[in-house]
Amino acid sequence: MTEKWPMSKSRTIQTRLVLPPDTNNLQTIFGGKVLAYIDEIAAVTAMKHANLIVVTASIDSVDFLSSARVGDVLELEAVVCSTGRTSMEVFVTVHSMDLLTGETKLTTESFLTMVAMGTNNKPTPVAAVFPESEAEVRLFEKAQARRDHRKMRSELKH
Ligand SMILES: CC(C)(COP(=O)(O)OP(=O)(O)OC[C@H]1O[C@@H](n2cnc3c(N)ncnc32)[C@H](O)[C@@H]1OP(=O)(O)O)[C@@H](O)C(=O)NCCC(=O)NCCS
Repeated sequence: MTEKWPMSKSRTIQTRLVLPPDTNNLQTIFGGKVLAYIDEIAAVTAMKHANLIVVTASIDSVDFLSSARVGDVLELEAVVCSTGRTSMEVFVTVHSMDLLTGETKLTTESFLTMVAMGTNNKPTPVAAVFPESEAEVRLFEKAQARRDHRKMRSELKH
């Protein structure tokens, strides 16, 4: 496929309120809940880029750097930052915000690999991406190193 789309085409932002059923005894959000939000926004982001149904092939390691409490707002932002033939690498950041104090903290960030599926439910080619802003260039340029790291991790498992 020769088509190329700017990374900005796929950029997606979602805002979530942390509610009591989403939290543990410390009133901080379950990691699994944050992971579900990350997976959902990554799917929406990849579908915006590919205009196809996508599945999650992998989620890179996720470190929770800070917690979010009941009443905080989570702001998730995601973008397709590189592509293979049928796969898209999506970068997701999650910030938690206390709207009463204005304090904002990075909760986590993650890279996911989403694969576009054709009507035959088989991986299908996607357009490439190109970066525009400096931050996008930095993400784009390190994509090959991340891909190599993923491959090495997969080889270590078998
Ligand atoms: C992901 C999946 C579609 C790959 O199918 P496959 O038959 O192995 O197809 P291919 O070998 O052609 O791989 C397709 C692409 O996925 C990539 N891929 C496959 N497994 C991957 C993994 N674990 N991590 C990252 N990328 C992966 C390949 O590198 C390839 O990318 P490219 O086309 O850009 O080079 C298939 O394994 C699948 O359907 N998995 C289940 C997905 C799912 O249900 N997710 C929800 C959670 S259970």
